[in-house]
Amino acid sequence: MPSYRAPGRANLLGEHTDHTDGLVLPAAIDRAVTLRAMPGGDRVRLRSAQADGEVDVAADGSEPGEGWGRFVAAVAAELAEIGRAPVGLVGELSSDLPQGAGLSSSAALEVVLAMALADLAELQVAPLELAALCRRAERRAVGVPSGIMDQAASILGRRDHAVLLDCGTLEHRLVPLPVDHSLLLLDSGVRRQLETAGYGRRTEELAAALPVLSGRRPADVDPSELTELLANLDDVPSRRLRHVITENARVRAVEAALANGDLAEVGRLFAEGHASLRDDFEVSVPQLDALVELSTDAGATAARMTGGGFGGSIVVLAPTSTAVALGDEVAERYRERFPGHEATVHVCDAADGAARID
Ligand code: GLA
Repeated sequence: MPSYRAPGRANLLGEHTDHTDGLVLPAAIDRAVTLRAMPGGDRVRLRSAQADGEVDVAADGSEPGEGWGRFVAAVAAELAEIGRAPVGLVGELSSDLPQGAGLSSSAALEVVLAMALADLAELQVAPLELAALCRRAERRAVGVPSGIMDQAASILGRRDHAVLLDCGTLEHRLVPLPVDHSLLLLDSGVRRQLETAGYGRRTEELAAALPVLSGRRPADVDPSELTELLANLDDVPSRRLRHVITENARVRAVEAALANGDLAEVGRLFAEGHASLRDDFEVSVPQLDALVELSTDAGATAARMTGGGFGGSIVVLAPTSTAVALGDEVAERYRERFPGHEATVHVCDAADGAARID
């Protein structure tokens, strides 16, 4: 039976830059959603090892679906719009990617579905076209005005590499990660659905500041211009824009630091990025701040929150030889600091992007 696999992602730097066509540096991780499916009929009928019940929607996406069925219907509808024949399928999903942890489980679901539905209907879709389609499906399903990063990372990822993607031009290149390091994802256990959180509000607050750029995108503005540009803006839009302009600059800087093997500089840029998300973009929570602090104290090379924020996970670069011990120590300190809260540690590697795997 055909099988397809789409990984989650950890964004290393470039947070909340994709929705204004900026630079991001995510890696696909070795945790994924897998779909085994057979073509047939005119319905998409899916079971999931992780969720109750069956999803059963029209293969042309003409019915909205409920729960995670909304994503299935939205992907089918987007594919129908680019000419997919309404070939149905019967399949089973399984996943070792934690849900709601800020590691893009919904993007991985969209990508695995899109890949299978296109393939089983013999429709060719270019990788970044598929990512854009899945981004539209996300918006159609749950109304979140997200950028293209998560879907693109799930598709473009490569083992041992991050992907530097310009979300405006869609130019991208692979960035090798330090060979003796692992990616540690520490899930705070704080759950906030993107659709009900401040994601949309943040994009609106940022939009209020953009006119001062006279049509330029934040990624094309040098941070040395900030004082002048922000002078006439109110406090909130000013801080939102400052985050995005400095964050784009940090992505360029971290690519150079990784190329030079300057891990101290990588750590400094992660710390600066986290502080900017906490103070200027205001999408962190005390639990994420604590995890970053505890990881740094425990000897991490670099640590920051990852993803949209308001809960979810932090990403840590740590020497592979000490990664497990570091994760255990941080989890213990976190328990002491937030009684009743548990951090879940995932020791990951950067992995290949989505593919048919049979
Ligand atoms: C979520 C969105 C992405 C991106 C990040 C923040 O993961 O889905 O498009 O905006 O938040 O960087």
